[in-house]
Order: sequence, then C-alpha cells, then structure tokens
Amino acid sequence: MFGAFIALSSFLTKQNDPLKESMERGSNLYAAHCQSCHMAEGAGIPSVFPPLAKSDYLEKNVEASILIVLNGGSEPMTVNGVEYNGMMTALDLTDQEVADVMNYIKNSWGNKAPMVKPQDVRNLR
Ligand code: HEC
Repeated sequence: MFGAFIALSSFLTKQNDPLKESMERGSNLYAAHCQSCHMAEGAGIPSVFPPLAKSDYLEKNVEASILIVLNGGSEPMTVNGVEYNGMMTALDLTDQEVADVMNYIKNSWGNKAPMVKPQDVRNLR
C-alpha cells in the first residue's frame, strides 16, 4: 500500500514537471548530436565552437538560437566577446526534438530560461 503510494506520487511528480522530462530527452539528443562540437559541459572550444554554457548569444537571441539548431549556421557571430565564423551543419530534428535539446542547453551548466515548446519551433520553420 505504502509502495503503491510512493509509486503514484513519483508518477505524479514526473507528470507535473514537463520541463524536467523535456530536459531528460534533450540530454540524450545533446550527447548524440551536439556534444562532439560544443563539448559535454557546453564549454565549446574557444574560437572554434562557441560555448552554450553561460552563452550571452543563447540567452539573448532566443529565436536565432532555435533557427541555428533547425537550419545550421555559417554567419559570423560573437559569443561572450569571442568571434566565431565556423559552420554548424543543419540537423534533421523534429519540432519536439529541437524543443527538448533547447530546454536542455538553456537549463544546464548554470543556464536558466523559460521552456521552449514544439509549437514555438514550428512557428519558426
Ligand atoms: C559540427 C559541429 C557542431 C555541431 C555538431 C553542433 N554545433 Fe552548434 N555551433 C557550431 C558552430 C561552429 C557554431 C557557430 C556558427 C557560426 O559561426 O555561425 C554553432 C553555434 C551554435 C549556437 C549559437 C551560438 C552559441 O554558442 O550560443 C547554438 C545555440 C548551438 N550551436 C547549439 C547547438 C545544438 C543544440 C546542437 C545539437 C543539436 C549543435 N549546436 C550542434 C558547431 C556545431
């Protein structure tokens, strides 16, 4: 009886935390698709791959960041005062996957931001 109560309450807690669930999926996507360039802790490689941890670009340019994950990017950009002019290839992710990976990077390594929903991604396609 007590066990069932614990199981039910942890089920409810999970259901009630959509950001946490999205971040868990995003964490796996990050390891598979992003970590090779942006590194496990989001630190990037100075002047080659920009950081995501405490990135002023990611914090301020919400839509442009989603667009980069959707379409890739090769425009010069400045992140935390350092210039990057590399090339990020487009990744073939669904709206849900883009939202999940955004929620992971925007709420990890000291970052904090409101939740991105699949509909926000769809609106930018
Ligand atoms: C092949 C290496 C590579 C991979 C893989 C990659 N990126 Fe990038 N990313 C870059 C480069 C290079 C830039 C800078 C592009 C430019 O100069 O226009 C960038 C820029 C960004 C930016 C905006 C700048 C910043 O640091 O805030 C975000 C956000 C981002 N990437 C997120 C992701 C996410 C999320 C994934 C995985 C879904 C990913 N990247 C996969 C190389 C990569």
